[in-house]
Amino acid sequence: MFPPAEDVKPQIRLRVYDAKTPFPKELHGTYDLVHAHHLVAAMVVPPDWTPLLLNLLTIVKPGGYIQWEEPNFYSTLVRCSLPTTRSKHMPEVARTLVSAEMKERVAHGWNELPALIKEAGLDMVVADVVSSDRVLKGRRGYSGNLIKLFFGGSRLATEQGTPGAKSFAKIDRSEKQLMEEIESGSYCWTDIHSTIGRKPS
Ligand SMILES: C[S@@+](CC[C@H](N)C(=O)[O-])C[C@H]1O[C@@H](n2cnc3c(N)ncnc32)[C@H](O)[C@@H]1O
Repeated sequence: MFPPAEDVKPQIRLRVYDAKTPFPKELHGTYDLVHAHHLVAAMVVPPDWTPLLLNLLTIVKPGGYIQWEEPNFYSTLVRCSLPTTRSKHMPEVARTLVSAEMKERVAHGWNELPALIKEAGLDMVVADVVSSDRVLKGRRGYSGNLIKLFFGGSRLATEQGTPGAKSFAKIDRSEKQLMEEIESGSYCWTDIHSTIGRKPS
């Protein structure tokens, strides 16, 4: 989910790393702030959280900070921005986020990070909760990203021949319906849990 190249300021350099494997030595202790955001979909539960945290901490400068934000999908609600908003299919997205297959995955991270960050030896640990819709213009993008993630998983299941997987035509149709609902002002709302901690100098 990189921004388009034309939106990237010249002083910013983007690089791709696998955060689950050790970072190159030359990056160790180089960042004042490491920000991690919405990695829950990439996590195997629960053993991934602490190893990933410890790996991210290797690139934080002593005295620098880590900030990690994760959604609590159990809190997901479907909301309508306008009286004309259509929201027939969006509730299914909210239900899927806490369905039997997702339940174990979404039970971790958002509620555990403050303790994990303290256990990793960080100080000045502060935890906060914000609403995903607090920035008006972010509502559409947040829900659109959720939908892309949602259908990305469905398409992978179809490609892999998973029993019960939907046809590509059905996935395309459902995605179009949901994107139209988002355009009309429908969106998913969740609590977002944010934890920040300082690596001791
Ligand atoms: C739900 S998206 C969140 C994207 C972005 N952080 C945001 O909040 O808009 C999850 C992201 O985790 C990334 N991801 C998955 N596994 C990863 C890994 N092992 N190392 C680094 N990034 C990973 C995916 O590429 C994807 O962009």
